Amino acid sequence: MQIPSEFQEKIINGFGSDGKAWLESLESTVKTYLQKWGLTSEGPVDNLSYNYVEKGTDTKGTPLILKLGVPNFDTRNEMVTLQNYDGDGCAKLLKFDLEDGVMLLERLVPGRMLSAESDEKIVLENYIKVWKALRRPLPTEGTTPSLIHWFEGLARYRSAGEGPISLEHVQLAEEFFQQVMETSEGPELLHGDLHHENILYSERNGWMAIDPKGVAGDPYFDVVSFLVNQLVTKADPKSILKLRVDTISDQLGLDRQRLLKASIALGTLYACWGVEDLADWETTYQCVKWFIEFLE
Ligand SMILES: Nc1ncnc2c1ncn2[C@@H]1O[C@H](COP(=O)(O)OP(=O)(O)O)[C@@H](O)[C@H]1O
Ligand SMILES: [Mg+2]
Repeated sequence: MQIPSEFQEKIINGFGSDGKAWLESLESTVKTYLQKWGLTSEGPVDNLSYNYVEKGTDTKGTPLILKLGVPNFDTRNEMVTLQNYDGDGCAKLLKFDLEDGVMLLERLVPGRMLSAESDEKIVLENYIKVWKALRRPLPTEGTTPSLIHWFEGLARYRSAGEGPISLEHVQLAEEFFQQVMETSEGPELLHGDLHHENILYSERNGWMAIDPKGVAGDPYFDVVSFLVNQLVTKADPKSILKLRVDTISDQLGLDRQRLLKASIALGTLYACWGVEDLADWETTYQCVKWFIEFLE
């Protein structure tokens, strides 16, 4: 089995020694689960990021996805969240092993990503349908992590000293997070990462989500990952961003000012994470500045 070196690097940068250990046994874990679940492999997908995702079929030729993550809280939480959605609005989890971090998922066919659609109006129309289909109350078991915990990342960024994200913006993000919380009807289950590459077209079900983070929070926050994504290649990203904000607030009946405050808050947090992880933060930070302009 060939594990792409870029993927290995990403895993080691992201998970350290746990990631290294996981990579060392990855080939044998994949083999074990192909055998255990009676699958034939068709090889990995071409856009691996922090999980090993392989296409396959079962003995009847049903297309499936085998997804393996470093066994940790986030990977287990993804499985718990997928069980909660139960194939409604999100690809169905068919089998899993919590301890080994392995999932067998319904494969969405042809599985074209929403990012492949160039007409922004069509993108928005389909995005809105998926967002609506994913609204759920918070599960009662109480294991869902909270956005409150995510937002501790702002204080962590601040305590690390001055970086490229201005501390004024960090403070504004904290203020707006509080304001959105104070006017919230209470936390719901959020997908937590509902962007273009996590929305795929299925012949059977239409557009569906994959890859939920599963976090408790106000539903306004569940549009931010989409708003700031897939902008760099656009000729006029600011106008596209405005169109997204206006269309989403209008069609989903969300208060525009409140949506912008939620977007400034979470957008700033994403930018801080980007700085910490040595990943792209510039575009997201630019979006935060545009959100501030739209609010004025
Ligand atoms: N259920 C699925 N059906 C079809 N393709 C999938 C499915 N799950 C994942 N993929 C493909 O694999 C890619 C990475 O999977 P994803 O679950 O998003 O992993 P990550 O958590 O690393 O982002 C997706 O962008 C998609 O192209
Ligand atoms: Mg993904």
